[in-house]
Formats: sequence, structure tokens, C-alpha cells
Amino acid sequence: MKLLCAVLLCTTSTAIAHASVTHSTFGKLPNGAAVEIYTLKNPSVEMRVMTYGARVVSLATKDRDGKMGNVVLGYDKIEGYLKDSSSYFGSVPGRYANRIALGKFTLEGKQYQIPINNAPNALHGGPDGFASRNWTGKEIPEGVEFTLVSPDGDQGFPGTMTAHVRYTLAGNTVRIVYSATTDKPTVVNLTNHSYFNLAGAGNGTILDEKLTIDADKFTPIDATSIPLGNLAPVAGTPFDFTKPETVGSRIDVDNEQLKHGKGYDHNFVLRGKAGVLRPAAKVYDAKSGRVLTVETSEPGVQFYSGNFLDGSLIGPGGVKYVKRSALCLETQHYPDSPNRPDFPSTELKPGQTYHSETTWTFSN
Ligand code: BGC
Repeated sequence: MKLLCAVLLCTTSTAIAHASVTHSTFGKLPNGAAVEIYTLKNPSVEMRVMTYGARVVSLATKDRDGKMGNVVLGYDKIEGYLKDSSSYFGSVPGRYANRIALGKFTLEGKQYQIPINNAPNALHGGPDGFASRNWTGKEIPEGVEFTLVSPDGDQGFPGTMTAHVRYTLAGNTVRIVYSATTDKPTVVNLTNHSYFNLAGAGNGTILDEKLTIDADKFTPIDATSIPLGNLAPVAGTPFDFTKPETVGSRIDVDNEQLKHGKGYDHNFVLRGKAGVLRPAAKVYDAKSGRVLTVETSEPGVQFYSGNFLDGSLIGPGGVKYVKRSALCLETQHYPDSPNRPDFPSTELKPGQTYHSETTWTFSN
């Protein structure tokens, strides 16, 4: 009997808690449009996501003592997001996350030009990309679905694109599913640009957090952060995170690649078969005991160590987001793929559906 109870108890305690979903208005855009915010909540995770940029606004998880704390950088008012055109906090950049060299690419014999917003390149889909659009939100079981219709020629990209991003919560896991269709051949690369600090947003730097990346190779970059084209082994370099290593242990060593990125700002080539959800990265913070495990169906992950944060962006309660106070693990196709036929393709044709999936699992 005792054994049976133990088994029953165990079954009950591991059952996945359902998420409640509620929504309200977060604020208004200058054109008067309302920005809606959705709260996905269960006993272990509380996440707020809004229609503006399909952004994660806050994400609270438990530390080793069971205390909830927000682990992503953001603002408490819409005005904070509207003033900040450089960080991309919590957003879904698009139509092409990361860089396209000189903003140019050729598709089916025609050249396209995306406006330059990170000289001399286009970054995150141009100056008015998906991160600054007010998506349409709809409650779905355990979460929310955001939809955006990007017209033909939007930021220079061909084809009308309909994109969806679904955030759902199951137990300790946040699942993000991206999909997109087009009516003309185009390119697409979607990701989430959350800045994590597992010790709590605004609580010091991430230099002591221990990182593992499931990658034996990375794509070295030139001085403008465009891939040189080769896949270089991480072994014997500061880019080897195949075993847990603190972010800060090698970040300032004399290394040309670290100089180009002002720290880590590089795409890692993930092991295994793209298209299938598999381990990508893990972060452990000894101070709080929090662990973040990232899985993805994408071929790469951009590890960005918050090098361009400089204390000028101010979060809730006046907290300064200082240099390297958070890290991003942007699961995605490699940067500049539209100009690199040897990289996994980012082309999307009419009749095809782009599909990408990433999960964040929190434990302690
Ligand atoms: C880029 C960084 C950039 C940051 C914010 C990252 O995806 O790789 O270079 O500073 O986004 O825009």
C-alpha cells in the first residue's frame, strides 16, 4: 500500500501543470493602436509576451529556494521599447534575423536591397523589421499565437509573407513555434532575441554563468560581423563550449574573432540534423541555482554576450543594463545565408511552409 501511494504521489507531482492565459492592454503606439500583453502562468513559470514585436517582456522562474525572479531584460512600459531601436529585447526579429552583407542578395536572378541599419550591413530585417511591428495576438491552449502579414516589398524583401509565432507553456518548458508562408520566392530567418540573466535581470553580469553549446564548429566573421564562409573547429579556441565553461573565462583573451565581435557575437554550428528538435545550449548560474536548457530544430545558434549594452538602457526600478549583463542564444540559420549557397538555405517558395521550433526549459 505504502509503495502504491508513493507511486501515485510521484505520478501526481510530475504531472505537467496547465498554464493559465490572460491578457490586457500594455500600452498604445504613437498611431493609437493598442499593444496587448498576454500572461502565461503555471506554478513554475510566469511569462509575459506582447503583440509589439511578438516580444517576451518578462519571464519569471524559480531559483534554488523556490523564489520566482525575472530572468530576461526588458521594460515595464511600452515607451521603453519604442525608444530603444538597438537592443531588440525579447523580440522576434524578421524577416531575416541577423545580418545580410551590405543588405544585398540575389534571388532567382533578381537583386534585392534591404535598408542598411548596421553599417555596412542590414541587421534583423532592416530598420523597420518584424521586431517593431504590432502583431495580432490570439489565445490558444496553454499560450498565444501572434500573426503578422508583411507586404510584398516590405523592407525590400520580395513576396507577401504571413508569419506566425506561437508561445506555449508546459511545466518548466516554454515552446516557441515559428511558421511562415509567402506568395513569391523570398528568404526567411526567425528567432527570439531574449537577453537572459539567470541571476535576475539587472543583477550584475553573466560572466560567471556557465555555458555549454552543442557545437564543434562556428562561423568566423570579418570585422563587420559577416561570416567569412568557412566552418572553423571550436577545439582549442575560446569558442569551445562543448564542456561547461564560464562565459567570462576567455572573453577578453587576445583573439581576432573576439575582437571582431567585441566579445562573443558568433553563430555556432549545432550538432545533429537540422529540422529535428535537439540540444543546443545550456546555461547554469551558481548564484541562483537556475539552469536554462535550449533545444532547437535550427542549424545554428547566435551566442551574443551583450557586448553592446553600456548602461544607457534603463530597466524597471531604474536598473542599468550594463555591458554583458545578459546573454542571447538566438536559434537560427547562419548569418548572410542568402549570399552563401553552401550554407543551409533560407529560401522560402510559394506552397512551402517555413517551420522552426525552439524550447527553453528552466530547472534549478
Ligand atoms: C547581434 C548583435 C547586436 C544585437 C542587438 C545580435 O543578434 O548579433 O551584434 O548588437 O543582436 O541588435
